Amino acid sequence: MKITLSVIKADIGGFVGHSTTHPEVVNKVKEVAEAGKEKGIILDTSVITCGDDIAIVMTHTHGIDAEPVHKLAWDAFIAGTEVAKKLKLYGAGQDILSDAFSGNVKGMGPGVAEMEFEERKSEPVIVFFADKTAPSAWNLPLYEMFADPMNTAGLVIDPSMHDGFTFEVMDVYSGKAIRLKTPAELYDLLVFIGATSRYVVRAVYRNSDGEIGAAASTQKLSLMAGRYVGKDDPVLIVRAQSGFPAVGEVLEPFGRPWLVEGWMRGSHTGPLMPVSFKEAKPTRFDGPPRVIAAGYQICEGKLIGPNDLFDDPAFDYARERATQLANFLRRQGIFEPHRLPPEEMEYTTLPKVLEKLKDRFKDIGEPKAKAPGSGEGEIHE
Ligand code: F6R
Ligand code: MG
Ligand code: MG
Repeated sequence: MKITLSVIKADIGGFVGHSTTHPEVVNKVKEVAEAGKEKGIILDTSVITCGDDIAIVMTHTHGIDAEPVHKLAWDAFIAGTEVAKKLKLYGAGQDILSDAFSGNVKGMGPGVAEMEFEERKSEPVIVFFADKTAPSAWNLPLYEMFADPMNTAGLVIDPSMHDGFTFEVMDVYSGKAIRLKTPAELYDLLVFIGATSRYVVRAVYRNSDGEIGAAASTQKLSLMAGRYVGKDDPVLIVRAQSGFPAVGEVLEPFGRPWLVEGWMRGSHTGPLMPVSFKEAKPTRFDGPPRVIAAGYQICEGKLIGPNDLFDDPAFDYARERATQLANFLRRQGIFEPHRLPPEEMEYTTLPKVLEKLKDRFKDIGEPKAKAPGSGEGEIHE
């Protein structure tokens, strides 16, 4: 059976501040999603949360970008927003950037990751969901899962993976994408995906037969709204086993934390901490960024799960290490590189402060240089 797995997520209100979600809001979203299942729009649904974000996981047969499915998620988030407003939750309706639905939630605020595939004899999938970070947080782990034999032994050992995988990489500013084949074009791939402020991995395909292995949300909220409206807390779907990385190979990159952008005011570098569902409530300096892993077996379109995959003491080291890194970075306060560089601060509330002071900069006879990455020295002009 050909099925589509769609994960559509939004932050529609925080409890308390931007920390977590409120059960009444989550229940409302579930209720609407379940009603969509009763009506036959979708085959099954599972609602998960990470920090102040809610994701609706859905299986159906409408293909990707399907209007009835996107509309169902939109209606669920609108209904949830009403509850959030009633409770005066913080940032109620934060990711709902439009007043009316028009065919697809893309560009309207919510983040989307979707893939269509023929359901295998057994279909294990993992939905990763992160809070207080951005879609580029998946670049490093996707590289390790699908292109690094030091992480994924199957790339060497399993003949069905030995031809490698192709990465689709998107430039978030131009909206254009490039497909690069690994291992042959690995170094070209890394030129781009190592530049996390600009390039994000959108999907991964198996070279031997073109099967999709991973799909990520790539929406950059601030670029849509033109102002800071919260980070684009991302979701990622990964298929596992039998010709794809094993579940343990998919999870292994999270065994050691690395630094991602996000955290307080979306303006800081911080470690991504893998946590169980119940620990996905970032509070320290509004963080540090969290990631959960929800495992499902798909059976005739039904979602069997979720299994809370980071609820394993083997990830305690990563959590401990992330806490140490958080301490170390916090020592640096408002100073870079804990705070993000100016190009990244452009979409935060900082430009308003700069605007107020820009006329105070006076020419002192020094030569003008270009501001990094911008082409001109616009900040002080
Ligand atoms: C980060 C985040 C929070 C807020 C911070 C300030 O993604 O959501 O760190 O940026 O709590 O929030 P406001 O400006 O809403 O008071
Ligand atoms: Mg929020
Ligand atoms: Mg969030």
